[in-house]
Parts: sequence; C-alpha cells; structure tokens
Amino acid sequence: MARLIAVSIDCRNEAARQTFEEIFSRRRDYLVTKGQGTGAVDMLLLELDELRPQQTFGHIRELLSASPDLEVFLTASRTDPQILLEAFRLGVKEFLPQPLTRQEVEPALARFEERFNGRVSGAEMQSGRVVSVIGARGGVGTSTVATNLATSVQQASQRESAALVDLDLHGGDLGLFLDLHASQGLKHLSKDISRLDETIIRSSLAQHSSGLHLLTSGYEGFDEVAPTTGSTMRVIGLLRSMHRHVFVDCGHVLESAVKEALDCSDQIIVVTTLSLPTIRRTKRLLEALGAWQYQAGKVLVVVNRYVNDQKELLSETEDMLGLRMAGLIPNDYPTASEALDHGKPLTIMASRTTIGQWYLRGTDQLIGDKAAVKGTAVGKEPSKTASFFGRYLPSFGLETKGKPSAV
Ligand SMILES: Nc1ncnc2c1ncn2[C@@H]1O[C@H](COP(=O)(O)OP(=O)(O)OP(=O)(O)O)[C@@H](O)[C@H]1O
Ligand SMILES: [Mg+2]
Repeated sequence: MARLIAVSIDCRNEAARQTFEEIFSRRRDYLVTKGQGTGAVDMLLLELDELRPQQTFGHIRELLSASPDLEVFLTASRTDPQILLEAFRLGVKEFLPQPLTRQEVEPALARFEERFNGRVSGAEMQSGRVVSVIGARGGVGTSTVATNLATSVQQASQRESAALVDLDLHGGDLGLFLDLHASQGLKHLSKDISRLDETIIRSSLAQHSSGLHLLTSGYEGFDEVAPTTGSTMRVIGLLRSMHRHVFVDCGHVLESAVKEALDCSDQIIVVTTLSLPTIRRTKRLLEALGAWQYQAGKVLVVVNRYVNDQKELLSETEDMLGLRMAGLIPNDYPTASEALDHGKPLTIMASRTTIGQWYLRGTDQLIGDKAAVKGTAVGKEPSKTASFFGRYLPSFGLETKGKPSAV
C-alpha cells in the first residue's frame, strides 16, 4: 500500500461495527481512528439514518465538500433503489447492505485500494524526499547533523521548501538549534490522527530565516503518552506532500514512532562517532535495522567528530561493520557549541569553517537523489581479522560475524 489508510466508523449497529473492525484488524495497512473527526481520514464507514435519510445526505454533502478525497461507504439494513441513487449522486463510493458479510466487504475494499493507490501515488508518493537521521547513542551529534543537513539543503535552493521534524520523544531541542519557538509541536499533533490535515500541520510549523520549516517535538521525556499509532507516518506523509525535502531527527531510541518514520523514509542516516561504546551501539543498531530489510542503500552511516589521526580506527571499524562510511564530519567542538549557544546553524554562522563547509558542500553528495543508488555504505565485506577489535575487544561483543544485511 502507498501508505497507512486512516478509517473512521460512524455506525450505531453494533454487529455491523464489529464486522468492520474485525476485517480491519486483520489488515496491517488500515488504521481505525478513535476520534470523532473525519478531517484527515481516507475512508468513512457511515450508517444511513433510515428514518431521516436526508440528514445523512446533508452530512455526506458537508464532509465531501470539506474533504473531496474522502471515500464514504454507506451501510443500511434496507436497499431502497431511490436512496441508493441519491447516495451515489452525492459521491458515495460503495453501498454495503446489512447484515455485513466478508464476501461483500472484501471486494469493496479491493476496489477502494485500487482507487486509493492511484490517487496517493499520484500526489503524496511522488512528492518530497524524506531523510531520517538517527543516532547510534545519545550525544553523538544527531540533532546537529539533522539541523545542518536541512539548512544546507534549504540554503542551496530557496525555491525548494524543506521541513525539519523533531521526533526526539525524550527531550527534543531542535527549537534551540534554530532559535525558534512554537506553541504546538508533534506532541500536540500526535494525540489524534483524525484531526491531522495540511491546515493543522501548517499552523504548527515555525519558519526559520533561511526558509526552513520546523515542527518541534513538544515531548520532554517525562511520562508522556507516546504518539498515537500511525500518527508519525501520517504527519510525515502530509509534510512530504507540502515540501520537497523533509528531515527527521529521530533521536537515538528505536521506538515505534521512530520505526514509522524510518519505514516511510527514502534515506536513513545513522550518526556515529569512533568511540568504542558508540561503535558497539552502532553495530547493534545496524543489526536491528537489518532485520527490517530495507532496500539496499537506504541506510548510510556517517562518522561525526572525526579527527585525522583516527584513520586506522576508521578502517578497522568499517571492516568490522562491513560497510564504508558515507561521510566523515570533522570534529570542531568550539564552533559546534558556539553555533548551538547562539541558536544558529553551522551552515550560516560558521559557513567558512571546515565543519560549516562540510555541510554546505557534502550534503548533496550524502542525501542527493543519487545517494541511495550509489549506496555509499554498501559493499565492503566484513573482515575476519579486524585486528583492533578482534584481538583486544572480544568481550565488547564486536565480533565480525557478517555484513548487516540491509546496509
Ligand atoms: N562535528 C562536531 N564536532 C564537535 N562537536 C560537535 C560536533 N557535532 C556536534 N557537536 C556537539 O556535540 C554536542 C551534542 O550534539 P547534539 O545535541 O547534536 O547531539 P545529539 O546526539 O542530538 O544529543 P541528544 O542525544 O542529547 O539529543 C553539542 O554540544 C554539539 O555542539
Ligand atoms: Mg538531539
């Protein structure tokens, strides 16, 4: 399926409601929303008020004029040809007589999916490119990388809009990196998937002077309710239909909202450093991503805070992980932290420094349309004799068993 399908059920007949819910619970591409709104759902299963059909029709008319892409499935216990005719004229796509049977519902869903895929692949799927940035562990520079890749792309072309999403659910702080404040962020949006549409997303974005749009996290990491299932994918889907580039700071915890972001990304950038605990976490993270079997070239690894005398360690790390690093971001703590203190990206405040130049010149090579095809991270066989790790650190769990399958 092109993306997750959000469904709302407005049906008083308990047996009919249960049949729908049971059918959808077996289909992983569908998500039945709990909210009452229909603002952003793709399909509404609506029961006809048989005593007052005109009231139902008025409701349908309003819904379809507000959301022309919404598909309404009507259900009723009687099949009156006159009523059916009027419903189809209004734009109802399917009529399902009660009692509902799988034999009738399944073909109706198959027809819906055909229409839906045609529509979505024509709009959302052909739009913006999504790049997710995830840290091998906390503090490696994930937010610095995500912010500066995004501003670099935005600075390179003012005509192509870019958005940055803070998906760190444990204290997202991208607002500080860009000195931007927003009253409503992802946390607010993720409470109820049925409310999500372009208008509410647009009203939640803060714009940076570079032109970049930021969706702040809002999550502080204190006992908050996790985003509703499907909401992250939905937010990113809407953002990519509005922007040419969407960058996501995924933090460093592989939780379900982050998996949704990674699943719908075109490119995943793993940020690591050449410190032993981080290398160990990188190996574990790549194994976890490997199990999800993303297409070759989708996952790239960059080393942050790289210094030239780490050449040998770099080579052995590549051997042990069975990949080539896609980028080496120079170490420059004073400049990186000064930029952060001023709430300015390196690409603007330190554009002439080595690190600023790395972002301004290296971004296109790293995440440009052809990056995935080049598959910079693929193709180096893991060495069986990675000397440093092999000889001295077997207890670190850094044995060289095999190349991570998806990287
Ligand atoms: N290339 C670099 N050289 C030196 N310092 C850097 C570099 N990139 C980032 N830093 C610094 O490292 C620190 C952590 O950066 P950042 O907040 O981006 O990491 P993070 O992985 O997002 O952390 P967290 O897990 O807290 O979200 C900051 O002080 C930042 O300025
Ligand atoms: Mg961070």
